[in-house]
Amino acid sequence: MEVKTSLLDNMIGVGDMVLLEPLSEDSFIENLRNRFDHNEIYTYIGSVVISMNPYRSLPIFNPDKVEEYRNRNFYELSPHIYALADEAYRSLRDQDKDQCILITGESGAGKTEASKLVMSYVAAVCGKGQEVNKVKEQLLQSNPVLEAFGNAKTVRNDNSSRFGKYMDIEFDFKGDPLGGVISNYLLEKSRVVKQPRGERNFHVFYQLLSGASDDTLKKLKLDRDFSKYNYLSLDSAAVNGLDDAANFRTVKNAMQIVGFMEDEVQSVLELVAAVLKLGNIEFKPESRCNGTDESRIKDKNGEFDLLGIEQSVLERAFSYRTVEAKLEKVSTTLNVAQAYYARDALAKNLYSRLFSWLVTRINESIKVTRHKVMGVLDIYGFEIFEENSFEQFIINYCNEKLQQIFIELTLREEQEEYIREGIEWTNIEYFNNAIICDLIENHQSGILAMLDEECLRPGTVTDETFLDKLNTICAEHQHFESRLSKNSKYITDHSLPHTCFRIQHYAGKVLYRAEGFVDKNNDLLYRDLSQAMYKANHSLIKQLFPEGNPAKVNLKRPPTAGFQFKASVGTLMRNLQTKNPNYIRCIKPNDKKASHIFTDSLVCHQVRYLGLMENVRVRRAGYAFRQAYEPCLERYKMLCKRTWPHWSGPLFFLEERRRQCLQNLATLIQKIYRGWKCRTHFLLLKKSQIVVSAWYRRYAVRLFGEMQKLKYQKRCKEAVTTIAAFWHGTQVRREYRKFFRANAGKKIYDFTIQRIMQKYFLGLKSTLPSMSPIDKSWPARPYLFLDGVHTELRTVFHHWRVSQLCLCPSPIFNSSVKYYLTVSQPFRGDYLEISKNPKYQKLNSAMEEKVLLADVVNKINRANGKGTARIFLLTKNSVVLADQKTGQVKASVPLPDLTSVSVSTQSDGFFALKLKEGSASAIKGDFLLSSEHLIEIITKLHRTGATAADSEQLNIDISDEFLVQFKHDKVCVKFIQGAPKNGNSVSCKRKNNRLLEVSVPTTA
Ligand SMILES: Nc1ncnc2c1ncn2[C@@H]1O[C@H](COP(=O)(O)OP(=O)(O)O)[C@@H](O)[C@H]1O
Ligand SMILES: [Mg+2]
Repeated sequence: MEVKTSLLDNMIGVGDMVLLEPLSEDSFIENLRNRFDHNEIYTYIGSVVISMNPYRSLPIFNPDKVEEYRNRNFYELSPHIYALADEAYRSLRDQDKDQCILITGESGAGKTEASKLVMSYVAAVCGKGQEVNKVKEQLLQSNPVLEAFGNAKTVRNDNSSRFGKYMDIEFDFKGDPLGGVISNYLLEKSRVVKQPRGERNFHVFYQLLSGASDDTLKKLKLDRDFSKYNYLSLDSAAVNGLDDAANFRTVKNAMQIVGFMEDEVQSVLELVAAVLKLGNIEFKPESRCNGTDESRIKDKNGEFDLLGIEQSVLERAFSYRTVEAKLEKVSTTLNVAQAYYARDALAKNLYSRLFSWLVTRINESIKVTRHKVMGVLDIYGFEIFEENSFEQFIINYCNEKLQQIFIELTLREEQEEYIREGIEWTNIEYFNNAIICDLIENHQSGILAMLDEECLRPGTVTDETFLDKLNTICAEHQHFESRLSKNSKYITDHSLPHTCFRIQHYAGKVLYRAEGFVDKNNDLLYRDLSQAMYKANHSLIKQLFPEGNPAKVNLKRPPTAGFQFKASVGTLMRNLQTKNPNYIRCIKPNDKKASHIFTDSLVCHQVRYLGLMENVRVRRAGYAFRQAYEPCLERYKMLCKRTWPHWSGPLFFLEERRRQCLQNLATLIQKIYRGWKCRTHFLLLKKSQIVVSAWYRRYAVRLFGEMQKLKYQKRCKEAVTTIAAFWHGTQVRREYRKFFRANAGKKIYDFTIQRIMQKYFLGLKSTLPSMSPIDKSWPARPYLFLDGVHTELRTVFHHWRVSQLCLCPSPIFNSSVKYYLTVSQPFRGDYLEISKNPKYQKLNSAMEEKVLLADVVNKINRANGKGTARIFLLTKNSVVLADQKTGQVKASVPLPDLTSVSVSTQSDGFFALKLKEGSASAIKGDFLLSSEHLIEIITKLHRTGATAADSEQLNIDISDEFLVQFKHDKVCVKFIQGAPKNGNSVSCKRKNNRLLEVSVPTTA
């Protein structure tokens, strides 16, 4: 972080005059000059800030500087107005002390600028946020509006405040601005109609004419040319460095920010225009029959269209003056001079009332209820012009009062306090201007009281009579000088005209011209004029002239301007005394508004009348820090009981202790708060938990009760059923006991037997032997009495098993044929798949009956014993032999024509179909065939032959030698056991004409 400059590091001259050695007026001025030459415009006298007007912008008012001075101790950094603003703001925020910033100095010394710097600093360091920023903006933007209407260029200052302003900025407990109240003090309204040489009217007139659009000017019926308006002085219309047009835009914008409505801004501009146009109204005399002149408006060019006032009404108001007493009403005509006077009075009143309305309107936007207050006083500075009038008198009076406050609080009270406290003290002489204040404001003999008396006195009252009165009453006063006073001292003083009086103010002698005092103090507007204004068709004008309302005619004189001013200054002073004062004493380095020029004599004069030397002396002689017992006790009593009431610790130690203590307190508060918050939260949770669990339990208990009830009911029902069952059982048993005992044995026996049988059969199911007919096994019989059944079942099972294999009853195979070898092949019947095979389609369709068996067999040739393949078909009625290749039928034998079938005992597959002698089929002789499915063929032939209705049982001859009738001869077919050399195949050989020998391998 940047190392900040300490007050004593790199200091130009001495930053705090209290430390100046040796202290003399010369060294004081020299120190100011030295610092001024090095752009150090601020110097302290303790906590008082002396501000030299640099008349140029310095790079010390920027956000960086604001940050630098923020929250720093007053003496930590080099002197700056920001340090004072920071100190004031912090003690307002942290110690709840209302503050006021008193800015004094003569006109052009930089008071207004200083007040703006203080306000901008406070705005920069206080809280932020949308609402706060809006308030800040409104407070800050009230400045340009009031400056436009209340400031003007004077010979002393191009932007001289022609009104006094005191602004209370109100803060909340955190130190955030909430709003404010502006009090305005007597506007120098004479400037509206006449300006001294080299000066201007109020800025707003020039701003309006330069900055408003053509359209606006046209609507307001104004001309951009300043010279067209009598009320605008021509010789200094344009001011160096002032851009009226730009300022007009700033003002309009500021009005909008402050909260003026569009139509309000328009009304205000209309009034400003009306004032300008009023100045252009001219009068001409018109002779009346009674010989007097009456004024008439010259060139009636409809100037007043804008305000909605009828011209005739206005003209009448400028021509007559009506004086109303309790009973009578007297109307007198006005001559041209009076008419001009009336016109100017109207213009001044219109403008000053407009100004007051603006302040009220701004207050409406920014007002809030009081909390903590920081007041910033920027009043018109002490001024001495060539010609000084009532306004300067008032302004200078106000400055006297401010000087009084300063003297009272910093010089008188402080010294008196040391003496009161019994502290050794050498009295420091200073000039107390209370005597001048008394000259002006004394209730009986004060100048203002004299003036009021004159104004209210019946009879002819003029400025001369007023001056006479002063001359008699105040002649003896040390600070009053007049040529005509009895005090012979000034009789020969030619610098003092007869029509003037001079006051030795604290800041110098001022010559006042008595002319106009009475009039300005009266500040009367002819009732005719206010009534004419009230008739205007313009709401704002109506509002500004409420006394013009005929319904509210008030014959009482309004309070005089001097009286009002004195009262409001009194209120202001009382208000300031309740607050902690912070002083900024502005000094003008030269009279030329020039930078870099330091006129010793001028500065010296200001240093003297501001009492700065005395201020330094009191500061040096007194303690560096003073605090009243009360607040000190209040502030530090928390630290240690023993330190009260006779504490003697060093201040910064106490401050440090206090800060630590505050920190601890803050921690404690935070701790307690957090504990409280957590506890509250916990208790809330606990309470909720109890409520929830209570509800749940209630619900659960209810549910549980319901369930218990249901369970109980169910058990009751079950119990009833059980009891009933037992009861019925008992009843029944009792009733049936006799029957039961008699038949029980047989029944139990039957039942047991049944059960055993059942168990036996069911058990048999799982212990049955295999399906092979040669399997001799059979499960053991469980009970002896089952023996017969058991044996029978075994036989049945065996039969069934066999029947499952061949579906043929046993008689065929009673012989010794070893059929089991063949029956291992299942009977398929149609080996050729004759119905599906397209090759046999023709053959199949030639069959009249369903084919039961289709197979390829060998037809044995008698000549050589060799076989020819033939298709063998068996239908329900016949046996058909067909050519294997062509499917052509070779022989068809009706089953009745078959007498018997001869087979051998061997497994050779040979069989002979023997035909009935004499039948048609027998012509060709018997068939000797061989097949692999011999058993199946014979079985099926046998069964088919048996079922054919008209046929006899087909005989089956089983012999190893049988005769076969071929066409003409009978040939014997003989089966022999073949030698192993013949291999495994069966062979057939022709032995001779009458014998065919079939050799069957032994193993076959
Ligand atoms: N701090 C400053 N920095 C630059 N210029 C200043 C400063 N203070 C005053 N001035 C110049 O001096 C002029 C007069 O100051 P102002 O505050 O209006 O005087 P006062 O209100 O005391 O009559 C300003 O218009 C400005 O040009
Ligand atoms: Mg000012």
